[in-house]
This record gives sequence, C-alpha cells and structure tokens, in this order.
Amino acid sequence: MARRRLVAGNWKMHGSLEQVDAFADALAGGAGERGDTDLLICPPFVQIERLARRAGDCGLAVGAQNVCDKAGPGAFTGEVSATMLADVGCSHVIVGHSERRALYGEDDEIVAEKFALAQEAGLIPVLCVGETLAQREADATEEVLRRQLGTVLAESGVAAFERAVVAYEPVWAIGTGRSATAEQAQAAHAFLRAQIAAEDDILANRVRILYGGSVKPDNAAELFAGADVDGGLVGGASLDAASFLGIAGA
Ligand code: PGA
Repeated sequence: MARRRLVAGNWKMHGSLEQVDAFADALAGGAGERGDTDLLICPPFVQIERLARRAGDCGLAVGAQNVCDKAGPGAFTGEVSATMLADVGCSHVIVGHSERRALYGEDDEIVAEKFALAQEAGLIPVLCVGETLAQREADATEEVLRRQLGTVLAESGVAAFERAVVAYEPVWAIGTGRSATAEQAQAAHAFLRAQIAAEDDILANRVRILYGGSVKPDNAAELFAGADVDGGLVGGASLDAASFLGIAGA
C-alpha cells in the first residue's frame, strides 16, 4: 500500500518570530505544489502559535520538539503538557530525539510515557530512534532499535501506531554532514517495520518511517528511494524555506 511521503523539519533551538513569518511567507507562495508530500515543521515552543496561525495557508502541519512526561496540569515548572500543545495548534510532537536522550537524560521509559501522553491529547507522536556510532561499530544497531521501539510497543500497544510516525535517526549522522547511506537507512527502516509487522502486519504497512540525519536537498532523493523510507526528519536544512522545499520536492 502506498504511504504518502512526509517531510518534517526540526528547527531545534533556532529561529525567531521574524524568521517564522519569513518562512511562512516563502511557503505560502508554493502551497499548491506539494503533490503527495505532507509537510510538518516543529519550531521551538514559543514560535509554535505564530506558525500554526499560518499553517493553513502554507499547507503545513505544526508540531513541537518535546513534551512533558506528566499529564498535568500541575506543579511542573518549566514544562509544557501535551494538552497545551494541542491547544496552540500542534498536531504532532517529536518524542525521544537523540539530543533529548543524550543531553537531558530521557530514557526509553520516559520516551514511552511522552508518546502515550501525546496520543491521549490527540497529538501524533514522531518517535525518534537510532544508534550511536559506538553502538553501530559494536554491531548493536538492531538491538538498540529493538529496545527503543519495543519499549513504546509494550507501553502503548501496536494499535497506537495507527496514529504515530517513526523516525530513524542514527546519532552519528545528526548535524555531522555525514548521512547514512541509502542502503543503511533502508536496512534500518525495514528492520523497524518488521518489528511492528510481527505484531500487526497491516498497520506496519501503513506507518510512516522517516529518515533523519544530515538530509539535504542534494541527498534527499537518494535517501528517500528506499522502499521503507517514507520521507525525512530534517534539522539544519529545514530552517531555510528553499532548502526545505527542495527536500520536500526531491
Ligand atoms: P540534521 O538533524 O538534519 O541537522 O542532521 C536531524 C535531526 O536532528 O532531526
């Protein structure tokens, strides 16, 4: 079955309201020409509402990069709940990005909790998984992917993947300019899809699995060619509208 391509931008801690407006203006122009590609942008929290107001005329969905692992409301200073994200116009939220795992100590259980809370609030979680270079060199890639995806499958059940996106992001390819090869990406994606298929074959064929890690306009077509690669999660190259659209049109 054909899966629509999804190209998602993760702006990380970049941008300003002025840049949001410029990005939206640039996208609004070509909003009719996306073909079969869905577009999603995940700006910092404080820029979400501004971009969400333009989502319709830009043909974009808007998401967050992170969410609190408690349902709230409550005494969780500095945190933002899934319900609040839905309230300001998010349809998606990234959970388990490797920077959250590595820099902010998020383990598989916390990520699984965030995934579940996002869905309860009606958001589509974009679950990031991926191995470090040391893990790949130790031949532990599949073991890491199995554990990261498996914790979420155990917590939320396979049916949850009806409304979820998976992103394979090898840590060694993020922000390094060194993307995985198309073969490496396809192999990891096929492995992840098979893990879902072991529990529900039909759903596994529907779930979109994105590749992330140094996707650029000039390597996107090759990376997205794999049968199990349904688009990309793009960091650096999503900040500029022309390069983001270049990837989307690849
Ligand atoms: P990058 O980041 O495209 O800048 O490598 C990808 C990501 O972290 O999602």
